[in-house]
Amino acid sequence: MEKQKNLRAIDDVKKKVKELAALREIGKEISASLNLKHVLSTIIDRALALLNASKGCIMLLDPNTEKMHIGVVRGLSKEDVKNFKAQTVKNISKAHFTPSSLSVPLKLKKTITGVINITNGTEGKGFARRHLETLKEFADQAAIAIDNASTHQQLRKVVLNTIKALAVSIDQRDHYTSCHSENVARYAVAIAREMNLSEELIEKIEHAAQLHDIGKIGVRDYILSKPGKLTSAEWKEIKSHTSKGAEILKPLEFLNGIIEVVKQHHERSDGKGYPDGRKEKNIHIGAKIMAIADSFDAMISERPYRPAMSRKTAINEIKRSSGIMYDPRVVEAFLRAVAKKAI
Ligand SMILES: [Fe+2]
Ligand SMILES: [Fe+2]
Repeated sequence: MEKQKNLRAIDDVKKKVKELAALREIGKEISASLNLKHVLSTIIDRALALLNASKGCIMLLDPNTEKMHIGVVRGLSKEDVKNFKAQTVKNISKAHFTPSSLSVPLKLKKTITGVINITNGTEGKGFARRHLETLKEFADQAAIAIDNASTHQQLRKVVLNTIKALAVSIDQRDHYTSCHSENVARYAVAIAREMNLSEELIEKIEHAAQLHDIGKIGVRDYILSKPGKLTSAEWKEIKSHTSKGAEILKPLEFLNGIIEVVKQHHERSDGKGYPDGRKEKNIHIGAKIMAIADSFDAMISERPYRPAMSRKTAINEIKRSSGIMYDPRVVEAFLRAVAKKAI
């Protein structure tokens, strides 16, 4: 009897050691990312694997409204989620378990930021207190990772909004309507959707479009508003807005992948664009899309040196330049978006 008890105790310790090793690995993995969606997905998937369960969710507490919202769900029906939510609101501050479910608050120091719920339904082997302890340790790491990611996300938003506000003032200086960059972003997203690009890439293209002319901050006013022909030196200064834009955005690490699009938005398929004279196959897809979206909005806007073109003339102009200025596949996507009235 005594021997059996000892064996079981050793077995328990072994299991615990294994779990702790897994926890350490998971801790490293979840704190490696700063993308909130990604962090939440990793946490729930690792928690389920750790506890050999199949269903669960993470709920987050909004500190402003003090309301719970769902961060991520695995395997639960809408009804299940609703029930969990009702239970959680009543019982938020304490970790608790039943044979079929575990629930642990996410805490930062003493503040509750959310809850992890794990369930096996009725067909599972059943949870014990040991499982609850494991989930608690896991939740401590998870809470820190979630907090880091959401702080980072808020910061990104603030920085991005600041740059966007700056971009609007640059549009005005450049004698566009203040919506030029927003218009370009809207057209670029419509074209990107027609090309079935990933949501992640579409978002990058949208941000790049909002910021594409940011480098004009370094171009002198009299050049931007000159109605007559530009001298070659003035033209050179205008062209520098692409590289200047890339320089301005470079310190912002989270704009990685957007910067190249900003830099290349005046490159042309025939290699006669700027700043690098890249040929079609070496131009970023986002920049090819932006080139069309930007030209289209520029053509239908009034400029210091010419009146606005009609939409029809502008569309024909883009068709005519397919394969010369623009990638024909992108022109096709643009025309489809126009036909669908998405542009
Ligand atoms: Fe530009
Ligand atoms: Fe532009």
